Amino acid sequence: MAAHTLCIFLLIVHLPLVGGLAVDTISGDPVQFPETEQCRERGATLQHTLTGGSSQAVARLEDVWKPAAGYKDRMSPNESVVLNRSNINDQGLYGLTCGSEEKRIHLNVITSSEKSVPEGQAAGFTFHYFTAGELGRYRVERNTQLVFELDLSSGSTSQGSGFENRTSVAPHWRSDGDLTLTLQGVKPEDRGDYFLYVLKDRKRGHLQAVRMRVSPAVNTPEERNPDQITCTPQPPCKETLWIPLSITAALVLVALGVVCRQRICRSHVSPGGGRSLTEEESQPITDPRVPEENGHASSA
Ligand SMILES: *[C@@H]1O[C@H](CO)[C@@H](O)[C@H](O)[C@H]1NC(C)=O
Ligand SMILES: *[C@@H]1O[C@H](CO)[C@@H](O)[C@H](O)[C@H]1NC(C)=O
Ligand SMILES: *[C@@H]1O[C@H](CO)[C@@H](O)[C@H](O)[C@H]1NC(C)=O
Repeated sequence: MAAHTLCIFLLIVHLPLVGGLAVDTISGDPVQFPETEQCRERGATLQHTLTGGSSQAVARLEDVWKPAAGYKDRMSPNESVVLNRSNINDQGLYGLTCGSEEKRIHLNVITSSEKSVPEGQAAGFTFHYFTAGELGRYRVERNTQLVFELDLSSGSTSQGSGFENRTSVAPHWRSDGDLTLTLQGVKPEDRGDYFLYVLKDRKRGHLQAVRMRVSPAVNTPEERNPDQITCTPQPPCKETLWIPLSITAALVLVALGVVCRQRICRSHVSPGGGRSLTEEESQPITDPRVPEENGHASSA
């Protein structure tokens, strides 16, 4: 049951901190507080410790967990504490008081970037780190499973199951610190949340998250309908070749903050498509629909 719930929320409970649990969530996703489902003590509370040491009530257990004032718009009474749309201010330390037991939960809210890669193509996960003399291990995980690991002192690498022979970093990483990971031959099952970080002294540093979607394979030029217009093969066109082919997909992508920078492409697209892209482009990146999209995606 607990495992099932963790899966639904894409919660990532990682290395325990001293006396507590740590949970990662991507900003906008729902977050379920671990252990709240197991607690059955009436009067139990969950408190968020704020900067400066004061704390703020989040929820209280009566017959079910009820949200405290300030959380009613994001939390429904439930068997466990679930905040529907996590935001950066939710980050930090929480205290769960369950009867005589006190548990500490550290919530890490990470802003992710979005990426859509056509099936069969290579995906690049940009990452730069000071590798001159710094030690530690560079790790990339997908939904908590190892994708790639590079020992920054020995240079030895390992690849996660399903990613064998498909991942690499440029050979000059040691001199220029470019640890951008290339994943070849993207498959539909590669979709998900990628976390990139350097593990040093049991701490994760430079944590970055990328939510990757996989779009249908791009036809080879021979297979294309001759009437169909292709983008000139300029690098910025690559990632969004499919936008002109599906306006729905384009709207979703743009809403997710993937701004089509391909003004070069647009002149080849049907005028209707171009217009809606322009309207959407003017929307701020902090479009309030983003969290909902994320929520749906992660519970799908
Ligand atoms: C939180 O999300 C759940 C599941 O999507 C939904 O049923 C509930 O109404 C939401 N609650 C609030 C207060 O937004
Ligand atoms: C209640 O919690 C469960 C997980 O324990 C979750 O799947 C469900 O969406 C939550 N419901 C609401 C209304 O928040
Ligand atoms: C990866 O490459 C090695 C060497 O070419 C090969 O022996 C191995 O079977 C490959 N593994 C997979 C999963 O393709």
